[in-house]
Amino acid sequence: MITMTIDAKVITTKTNKTVLQVAKENNISIPTLCAFAGLETRSVCRICSIEVKGTAFLSPACSTMVKEGMEIITDNDKVRNARKVLMEFILAEQGETENWGVQIKKLAREFNVEKARLKLTNDSARLIPQSEYITLTRALCIHCDRCISVCKYHIIHRAKKGASVTLTFGENNESLDKTNCVHCGDCISVCPTGALANGE
Ligand code: SF4
Ligand code: SF4
Ligand code: FES
Repeated sequence: MITMTIDAKVITTKTNKTVLQVAKENNISIPTLCAFAGLETRSVCRICSIEVKGTAFLSPACSTMVKEGMEIITDNDKVRNARKVLMEFILAEQGETENWGVQIKKLAREFNVEKARLKLTNDSARLIPQSEYITLTRALCIHCDRCISVCKYHIIHRAKKGASVTLTFGENNESLDKTNCVHCGDCISVCPTGALANGE
């Protein structure tokens, strides 16, 4: 067992847990976007940024492991400003307000952002039908890998790196309806941005 503090609350907990898990267990709310309980997290969105006393940079609560004596701050000006700036960039990539997924809309409300001030989306990268049942709007994807982790049939893959990173389907980057996809919808249900959605 270790003892630590979150927002000055003294907490005794087991090791091998993330700050996010311990915060949740203690009813301390930290916003998240890419993390999903039970799936490996890539920590790509940084919306869960928190301050760890004694460190220069903010850390993602979803992948920072708790340690003895740690002092965590989840809510101060530095943290709030950083989250808001990150949210603005994420929204800039999501394009027009009507494209935003449910979780994105909820976060935007929480951060008091009504619409994206910047626009980074390439419209040509928008809706690409993947099958009769499922569509992928590549521009909305934040590459959190939730869909890759949840698919029991290992149909979705990550290809390329850095700015060129993209999702592919099947062994040879096929359209979804040419793979063994059973249309279970699990990938749609975990997608935080609405990039994967039910087909029309
Ligand atoms: S619908 Fe189901 S089987 Fe098809 S890609 Fe998504 S998670 Fe995998
Ligand atoms: S399609 Fe959705 S779940 Fe899959 S990597 Fe992109 S944002 Fe994440
Ligand atoms: S929820 Fe932690 S980095 Fe996305």
